[in-house]
Amino acid sequence: MPDLVIKQQDIIERILTLELVRVTERAAVASARLRGRGDEKAADQAAVDAMRRELNRLPIDGTVVIGEGERDEAPMLFIGERVGTATGPKMDIAVDPLEGTTLCAKDMPGSIAVMAMAQAGSLLNAPDVYMDKIAIGPGYPQGVVDLDATPEENIHALARAKGVKPGDITALILDRPRHAELIAACRRVGASVRLITDGDVAGVIFTAQSESTGVDIYMGTGGAPEGVLAAGALRCVGGQMQGRLILDTEAKRERARKMGIMDPKKKYDMKELASGDVIVCATGVTDGPLLRGVKFNADLIETETVIYRSVTGTVRRIQAEHREMGKFRLD
Ligand code: FBP
Repeated sequence: MPDLVIKQQDIIERILTLELVRVTERAAVASARLRGRGDEKAADQAAVDAMRRELNRLPIDGTVVIGEGERDEAPMLFIGERVGTATGPKMDIAVDPLEGTTLCAKDMPGSIAVMAMAQAGSLLNAPDVYMDKIAIGPGYPQGVVDLDATPEENIHALARAKGVKPGDITALILDRPRHAELIAACRRVGASVRLITDGDVAGVIFTAQSESTGVDIYMGTGGAPEGVLAAGALRCVGGQMQGRLILDTEAKRERARKMGIMDPKKKYDMKELASGDVIVCATGVTDGPLLRGVKFNADLIETETVIYRSVTGTVRRIQAEHREMGKFRLD
């Protein structure tokens, strides 16, 4: 009776994929109410509370492996926190309830509510530290760029593989003083550098849409949680990514060891960051190039969400109108 057997992966697809939409929608709506108020903490907390409430309704036995910090310092959605009804499959959960807190607080483009889910053991269980990252979109030979190569070498290699000049390559980099040399190196070989103030989950995803975004490569240091979330999404749409945790103090190495990371210098490829059947779901908080932000109307709330599923490569975009205001306003 093979047709009647519902495999684990079918359960995830049929029951859970679309359930994640509700989770990021609610986090996005809760934080969007605080757009432009200049209060990053309040906006983040609203997203965390809403995401947690909704996660706890999912029929899963979930564990947060990428969260809002570690147990002692974060009251909710901390790494190790159990979420869900504890009745369904064991799942890893990675969350960034408000990616781009500053963008939201300043009502600037690009803040999103984002999470990923995969079977237990699939997502890198990492502390909330920095990660050195490099990512490109699909269609290139494996290993054409590498975290251990110089920026100049990577730009040249990518240009060769693309059949263009280095001057035709655009690199996306977070605008931070720590990236001064990286930015200078890219410019020295003639590449164009697009700087973003925040939001490198979307930054990585943009490399997979280079025809519309104009971005060929993402480079630089950002949050490790964002790295795992971005790797999950990039696995779905195709591309290459590497990341290395920056464990530059004994305290950070100890935190990592407790999570099972024995090699502090390990270079992770995309599948090591997020393996198996990964679902990544993001809802726009403020308007941005990836997603429209939440729109509050007199009698309904509009949201836009994108869901990536790695095993099928399906990308779904869901534009929702929420009319049941009473029910929706849990915050
Ligand atoms: P937050 O939403 O946690 O503020 O993260 C925004 C972000 O820009 C991420 O996209 C990025 O990975 C990280 O911050 C970079 O960290 P920092 O701002 O410390 O350079």
